[in-house]
Amino acid sequence: DSQWTEAAAVDEVPAADVVGMQVGGRDIALYNVDGQIYATDNVCTHGHARLCEGFLEGHEIECPLHQGKFDVRNGKPTCAPVTEAIRSYPVRIDAGRVFLSLD
Ligand code: FES
Repeated sequence: DSQWTEAAAVDEVPAADVVGMQVGGRDIALYNVDGQIYATDNVCTHGHARLCEGFLEGHEIECPLHQGKFDVRNGKPTCAPVTEAIRSYPVRIDAGRVFLSLD
């Protein structure tokens, strides 16, 4: 069974935006795409940039450093220069709170 770790209130993740936070000792980015919450590691796999400082457009997060992109739903790279996926985490919403499975 998965362990669920509480990350934030749903309200703390603004619509069509990304926020960074520490969850279970990890640097995590939370995204709100049309009211659906997604979670990935916050540090780009290309260099040392934080995706929460990037730009979310639809399901894609653009890295602020070299404009590589990832699909926030699964962490897959969608635009050069990123070639390696970022880790994405299962999300569960319960009573207005966001929980992540970090295993
Ligand atoms: Fe993210 Fe280069 S550090 S694209």
